Amino acid sequence: MENTIQNWEQMTYPFTNLTLNYNLNALEPYIDTRTMHEHYDLLADYIKNLNQIIATRIDLQNMNLIDLLNYAVNNQDIDLHRQAGGVYNHFFFFSELRPATGQIIIGITPQATNKIIAAFGGWKNFKEKFAEVSLNFFGSGYTWLIKNNKNELKIITTTNQEVPLGCTPILCLDIWEHAYYLQHLKKRHTYIDAFWNIVDWVKFSEKL
Ligand SMILES: [Fe+2]
Repeated sequence: MENTIQNWEQMTYPFTNLTLNYNLNALEPYIDTRTMHEHYDLLADYIKNLNQIIATRIDLQNMNLIDLLNYAVNNQDIDLHRQAGGVYNHFFFFSELRPATGQIIIGITPQATNKIIAAFGGWKNFKEKFAEVSLNFFGSGYTWLIKNNKNELKIITTTNQEVPLGCTPILCLDIWEHAYYLQHLKKRHTYIDAFWNIVDWVKFSEKL
């Protein structure tokens, strides 16, 4: 089965790299081509490592990534958690990006806007809060917009390759240094500013 941005959440062993619906140079100038190539290769390493773990584990071979992550948490399997988390988080992040068009917000639905206004007071506040949480986060991880089990929208972070389990993730920003250092050096804030230009807002609206 080809692993696409539509079906990656159902994928099971053997995992393959995501077929993106954009070229690795299409996010310029917001994310540079070299960073995207390095990042996509890094994802390939996580996939290889995950497949190696599962190759000898018949009990895990029919599980999708969320099943594997729940299994890893329940069984305190740190290596499985790291590798499956690395795959899940990158699949999520890469599948909600789109080529730069010059327009920051395109394809967003009025319903999605209303939800952002209700939860954060508006787009400007939402983006400022998301940036603030991302900038205050120490170390390697991800910033997420999630819907919790009370149907509330929250901005949270996960550390290393932890995954926000038990809620519905809407948006993910990789804030490991490998995601921006080649281009933005230590300036995480310019990377966050650039990110808004290449979010797939159609997908975002669907998830919301
Ligand atoms: Fe990454």
